[in-house]
Amino acid sequence: MFITFEGPEGGGKSTIIQRIGDRLRGEGRDVLVTREPGSGTVGAKIREILLHSEAIDSRCELFMFLADRANHVTTVLRPALEAKKVVLCDRYSDSTVVYQAHARGLDPIGVRELNAYATDGLTPTLTVLLDLDPEIGLKRLTTKDRLDDEPIMFHRRVREGFLIEAKRDPNRWRIVDATKTVDQVEFLCYAYIKEILSHEQDPLPFEGLG
Ligand code: TYD
Repeated sequence: MFITFEGPEGGGKSTIIQRIGDRLRGEGRDVLVTREPGSGTVGAKIREILLHSEAIDSRCELFMFLADRANHVTTVLRPALEAKKVVLCDRYSDSTVVYQAHARGLDPIGVRELNAYATDGLTPTLTVLLDLDPEIGLKRLTTKDRLDDEPIMFHRRVREGFLIEAKRDPNRWRIVDATKTVDQVEFLCYAYIKEILSHEQDPLPFEGLG
């Protein structure tokens, strides 16, 4: 089961993902927590360039997020999903559509096509949007990277972009108000995840016997 978490800066994704991962593990589920950009040694190098260098050409930035994703899909996500793990991923292709197309202004059709190529079509079953006003989110940050330092208008386009994407595909997306307390946000996210997990198909009784 592939579950992604998305949203503007300061929505508390990493805290919520850790808590939900712990809860699901406590129920005996095999869980993998991962993130983009920056999984593995190649990802860590790409992340360092993306978040901590000076201004980067927009298409160069796009291709670096996609390069990181392609490697993440092949080396981490697909193997974990094939091993039937519950995969909780902090940002994925929707961040590219929102940050690089909605906010940065790159052609959305091209971004979607390149995303499909980079992921080889791997799409999350559920995407939780931790939604909040970027003015509130940015105040919560203790350190800032290259993207956090973008002007407030950029971050407003990010928030709007996520809300537009969520409305495009309500079956996949759930929106959670990230200004609620951490316990409340965790409760809501967990409820949505349990709902999806309850629809998982039971294995066929004679699977593997011929
Ligand atoms: P990170 O420190 O992981 O931030 P956060 O805790 O907000 O997720 O930094 C990731 C940054 O990269 C974040 O500002 C969003 C941005 N980003 C993109 O612009 N495009 C992408 O495809 C991805 C995955 C992230």
